[in-house]
This record gives sequence, structure tokens and C-alpha cells, in this order.
Amino acid sequence: MNEPFPLRRPIRELPDTLISQIAAGEVVERPASVVRELLDNALDAGASQITVRLLAGGVRLISVEDDGAGILPDELPMALKRHATSKIGSLADLESVGTMGFRGEALAAINAIADCALLSRVNGQTHAYLLEGQTGEITPVARSTGTTVEVKELFFSTPARRKFLKTDATELAHCVEAVRRHALVRPDVGFAIWHEGKLVEQWRRCGELASLPALEQRLTDVLGADFVERSVWVDFSTSATPGRPDYAPIIKVWGRVGIPDAARARADQQFCYVNGRFVRDKVITHAARSAYEDVLHGQRQPVYALYIDIDPTRVDVNVHPTKIEVRFRDSREVHQAVRHAVESALAAPRAGQVSPQVATSLVRTESAAQVTDWGQALSPESTSPILSPASYSYTQAGMHFEAPVGHRVSDLAALWQPQPTAVPLPANDWPLGRALAQLKGVYILAENAQGLIIVDMHAAHERIVYERLKAQWADTLGASNSSSLPSQPLLIPATFAATPIEVATAETNAATLHLLGLDITPFSGKTLAVRAVPTTLAQGDAVELARSVLTELSQHEANTVVQRAHNELLGTMACHGAVRANRHLTLEEMNALLRQMEATERSDQCNHGRPTWRQVSLRELDTLFMRGR
Ligand SMILES: Nc1ncnc2c1ncn2[C@@H]1O[C@H](COP(=O)(O)OP(=O)(O)O)[C@@H](O)[C@H]1O
Ligand SMILES: [Mg+2]
Repeated sequence: MNEPFPLRRPIRELPDTLISQIAAGEVVERPASVVRELLDNALDAGASQITVRLLAGGVRLISVEDDGAGILPDELPMALKRHATSKIGSLADLESVGTMGFRGEALAAINAIADCALLSRVNGQTHAYLLEGQTGEITPVARSTGTTVEVKELFFSTPARRKFLKTDATELAHCVEAVRRHALVRPDVGFAIWHEGKLVEQWRRCGELASLPALEQRLTDVLGADFVERSVWVDFSTSATPGRPDYAPIIKVWGRVGIPDAARARADQQFCYVNGRFVRDKVITHAARSAYEDVLHGQRQPVYALYIDIDPTRVDVNVHPTKIEVRFRDSREVHQAVRHAVESALAAPRAGQVSPQVATSLVRTESAAQVTDWGQALSPESTSPILSPASYSYTQAGMHFEAPVGHRVSDLAALWQPQPTAVPLPANDWPLGRALAQLKGVYILAENAQGLIIVDMHAAHERIVYERLKAQWADTLGASNSSSLPSQPLLIPATFAATPIEVATAETNAATLHLLGLDITPFSGKTLAVRAVPTTLAQGDAVELARSVLTELSQHEANTVVQRAHNELLGTMACHGAVRANRHLTLEEMNALLRQMEATERSDQCNHGRPTWRQVSLRELDTLFMRGR
């Protein structure tokens, strides 16, 4: 039995080592945490090349070598001291801190739970000096300018921690991830990782972060060619509000976001940086995810590398010992900026712009590298930032479609009233090509410069109708006099046998129905009559439309629908207004649909996040037939 704990014991200051061991508990969870801290230090020292060497997943050895500014020999012991830092000297410094570190805690903490050595040479000095962490002994050694920090036998003094470590392979993976996070924001620094004497990863320095080609190169090296091929540039800044000098939140959001097709089952490719620091932030993650709301199916996780630059006084990085969390002064402005930035990057239809949505399943032998080639062949300006729909050319002689203005969809009626086609359509100029035929009443086959295009006609039309409804809805809410979606009375009202709930819903929601361009009134006690439908949906089945809208309305409060759930509701309506399978389309109608797709935002995905079209390249077709070129 233990001695009973004495009720009163003298108050004493904790010994330094114990304080550092306690601090280490917060900062150092596993080898990867040490790697992160040492990388921060190397970058703060201005390194341009960093080499990480590991043994046994980092548990036996972590060595981080840099070519940075180095540490003077008489300052070496200070580096291992608690709360000793060269990076800030005052509270004012802390508020606008530009370095990765500033707490002066990491090395002391690591030294308290591992066997550390510091080896450093300052430019201009004749020697490098080695400091043994355990003994405090300093000896001159040979080394070029820069610093190496060696951390051996992590957690040797805290075996409880050591037991929590996973296999070497898992710890190694975490270490690599830590380097990756730094590498993605520092393309101006070269990184190499060695494990057990073998080179695991190597990323050469390729230029400043601000240079798009450099960033693209680094993203390719670290995340793979696939990431870059299936993503688009984001570039967005909020501007200072005129007339409000106190309010100048210049937030810049840039980087690359994956197209919906590139989404993954896990959120393992979501990299966010605030002022050059990797962060995990709920506000940013939520904003980014909500930008995909309309185009991503279910639980799929988007991929992205997003860089957010914000006035350092508007963000607090001193929230968490590892600085992985930040606190924004105004999280709403950040949310809005990120959401808007990502949303507008995703909105532009991608036919003929970035890499095509390749039907890889058709021909599995094609390598990712070849996909790149097609992407470049397709679009010479594929590296330029977001192209707007208006950047398409619709002005060739004999064309019957005009470039859409802004983000509005040109008149959908054209789809059902085909224009006379006196002049043959130029087959190779349109991103989605010239319609050839309809397959099984479901797909449109078209020919473009790259080969064959396959379009899911219902999915595509549904998106077009949906985007049009959303635009009209925005107009309806914005206009002071116009008070509903453009609506069209039915020549003969469509009546249907309704349930008591449907009748009641129609009565209580008459105003909302009117807003939506619907006129549904009781005909007799058990019958409802649809007397008007939105013009955009005039081709659809009025009864089906009425039924589904009533079902949805019965599940929501009427004003909730108007405020929050209107996109869902408009989506439901679009589904009923869109062209059904097995409806025969003429070539003119098919071509009209293709042109509408090219001009409609988010038209690469249907309302449920599935793709609406696929490209099958000539090369893929040739491979199918073993035809060499
Ligand atoms: N790789 C390095 N190159 C140059 N100086 C370093 C390096 N690593 C650490 N230092 C020095 O040691 C100090 C303490 O490092 P650390 O404990 O990580 O605290 P912090 O980074 O918060 O200042 C730093 O402020 C810096 O002066
Ligand atoms: Mg540090």
C-alpha cells in the first residue's frame, strides 16, 4: 500500500527539466511532431535545402540538416533552454509574428525527452560546433554553413509515451506527411527524406510560391500529376470596402481545388495554409466543403491546396502549442472569402478547358502521363487561371448561339425550338463537339477535335434547368415588383387525385407556390388542379412536378424553404423539368443541349454530383482497336 497522500505539502517550483517534459507532452506526440518543429526552425533560419534522415520511423533517429543561417557557438546552449528564442522580443512582435516558431519551447521540450545534439556553423566562422544536449559539452567539428539537429531515442525517458507509437512504417508515413505539409507551401526550398539509408522522397526547389508554374511543379511533385490534372486554379481577393477605412480585410485566397470528379473517400488531400502556416481549421474546411455542395455527391471529400493570406493582426496563431489551429478575428469574412473563391473556380464549365474528364475505365492501359498530354493538347492555355464561360467563342459565321452574358444561361427555349441550320456546324470548334446520334434514348454521342464525347442527356439537361431556375430565383428575390419565377398558365389545367396532406399543403403554401411560379388550387375536395407552371419547366410533367414540390413543402416550414432549402427545391423541380430518358431528340436539339452545357456553370456535374459528360479520345479508341498511329 502507498503512503496516504499528505494533505499539506510545501509549494515548490518545478525543476526545469520536468517543466520541459510536461511541455513536450503537448508538443511532441510522435516522431512526426519533432520533424515538424525542426523543419519550422530550419525554414525560419532561411534554409534553401533541407534533408531529413530517419531511423526506425524516426524513433531511433531524426536528423534534420539545413543550409540556413546557423547558430553562434556561445548561443548554442541557449537554443536548448526553455523560452529562449531569437524570433520575438515583445508582445508587439507576437501580434505580427512572421516566423514559424516563436515560443522558444520546442528544442527544450525535445531535449527533455530525447537525446539531442546540435551541430551548427554560422557563415564566416572557421568551424562548426557540436553541442551535446545531455552533457552540455561543446566541441569544434567540421561542417559547412547551416545547422543539423539530431534527435535520438525519442521518449527514452518517458516509456509510457513510447508505448503509444505505431509501427515504424506508420510513424514514417506521418513524418513524410509532416514534410509534405511544409513542402507544399515552400517550393523555393528543396526537401529530401531518407529512411534507413534509402531515399524516400525528394522534391527539388522550383521557385517562389507566388509563381504559379513553381507552385504547379511542387504540387505535381508532392501530390502527383493526377492532382494537378484534375484541379483548377483559385484566385480571389476581397478588396477594402470603400468609405470604411477601418475595415480593410484584404483576404487573398488562391491555390488549386480538385474538380468534383477528383473527390476522394477520405479527406486526406486537403491542405490549407494561413499566411504560410499549415492549419487545420473548421471555418476553412467548412467553407471549402460548402463550395462543393452543389456538385459533389454524398460524403465524398474534395481535394485542394488552398493558400490564404490575411493581415496578420486579424488572425491569432498563438492558440495551440503546435500552432496547427488558428483563431480568426472575423471568421465570417474568412468563410465567405474561401467559399466564394472555391465556388467561382468550380463554376466555369470545363469542356475544352482543363484536362478532359477522361473515360479511363474504357482503356486502362493509358498512363497518367499520357493523360497530361491530352490535357495540354486540348487546351493550350490550361495553366491560365479560371476561364469564364464568356471566354468561349460563339461568333463564328453561321452560328446561332450567342456568348452568354455573365453567368446567366441563354434562353433555354432555344433547346426546344431549334434554329434553322442552313450552315453546317463546324465540327471541331466546340468543346463538346457536334452531335452524331442518340444512344438507347439515354446518351448523346458527339464528335469533337479530340474524339468522341458521350453525354448523359438527362443529367446534363437537369443541371442546365437547375442553374436557370437558380438564376431566375435570385432575380425573383432581388426584384421589388416581379414577385415570382417566370410562369406560364396551362391551356388545360392538369388535375390529379390528391391526398388530404397534399391538399392542405397546397392551401397553406399558396404564397410560396406562387413565388415558385406554380399555381396549384383545389378543384374539388380530393382533386388538385395545376393551372400554371414555371416557363422553364413547361415541357415537363405538370402533375409530377406539383406532387414532388408539395411533398417537399410538407416537410419544411414554408419560410424555411424560401430561406434555406430553396436550392433543394429548385433541384427537385429541375429533375422533373429535364428531358427524360427515351425521349427522342433531333440532332438540332442535341446540338442545342451541347451548346447550353458549354455555357452553363457547373454543367460538368448533374445536380447530384455525377458527371454529365465524358471524353473518349481518339487515342483511346485506337487502343481499343489496337490501331497504331
Ligand atoms: N535550424 C536552426 N537554425 C538556426 N537557428 C536555430 C535552428 N533551430 C533552432 N534555432 C535557434 O534556437 C532557438 C530555439 O528554437 P525553438 O526551441 O524551436 O524555439 P522557437 O523556434 O520558437 O524560437 C530559435 O529561436 C533559433 O534561434
Ligand atoms: Mg521552433
